[in-house]
Amino acid sequence: MQDLKANISPSKIKESNKLIKKVAIFDSGIGGLSVVKSLLDANMFEHIIYYGDTARVPYGSKDKTTIISFSLEALSFLEGFEPDLIIVACNTVSACAIPFMQENTKIPVIGVIQSGMKAIVSKHLPKTSNILVIGTQTTINSKVYQEGLQSLGFKNVQALETGLFVPLVEAGIYEGELIKAAFNHYFKDIKDIDALVLGCTHFPMLATSLREYFGKDCVFIHSGETMATYLNEHYNIAFCKRENIKLNYHASSNVAKLQESASKWLAL
Ligand code: DGL
Repeated sequence: MQDLKANISPSKIKESNKLIKKVAIFDSGIGGLSVVKSLLDANMFEHIIYYGDTARVPYGSKDKTTIISFSLEALSFLEGFEPDLIIVACNTVSACAIPFMQENTKIPVIGVIQSGMKAIVSKHLPKTSNILVIGTQTTINSKVYQEGLQSLGFKNVQALETGLFVPLVEAGIYEGELIKAAFNHYFKDIKDIDALVLGCTHFPMLATSLREYFGKDCVFIHSGETMATYLNEHYNIAFCKRENIKLNYHASSNVAKLQESASKWLAL
């Protein structure tokens, strides 16, 4: 397991109190747009640069060495924009590659699992809550969430790899028969869940369908919302009216498709 404590320790930026105006956001595909949406809703930053490695999505079925190598390539691409902060809006990369990225740049790098873990603490869930973590195969196999939650004292943690959700979301399918079939396939043995950790940034796009399935009382932990909360508490942020935030999109394949998904998803 990665050292979560090391990764959630006070940032380089807070120490220097630098104002964060420009951020670069990285995901394997369109999932990180769910994090961008939360940042825009929180009026965060003056300039957001988004990069989706759409030529190589999904990352979640690839091994750790491959994910580290892709992440370092993305890092050197994003460094070229000289951002004040790099946000890894991908749980799979956050589970495997954050220390490697941090070692290879002077720019602070933060991942969604670190912020998500903090947010779980602030939800004040009883330690006996039935928590279900869903994520990609690599995220679930890394056990970063399971061990992190257990070390926080949670006793009833289940984890499920639901990687099929990623191509469905990439295809723009958020509800309907295919989603219901995928839910029935993955969740048939799952009962009485108090909290659902959406351990993949693609999954908030399925939030309406997941809410129908798990019911209104289930607490959802969403990487975008938790990242916005974490940034607010730990960084000195330049706030900006949503309509004035400059947004640039980059993709390793088919940037037009990424832009189309962004205009649909961010307008919701
Ligand atoms: N959105 C990513 C995550 O949060 C990964 C999806 C994938 O590429 O498999 O894990």
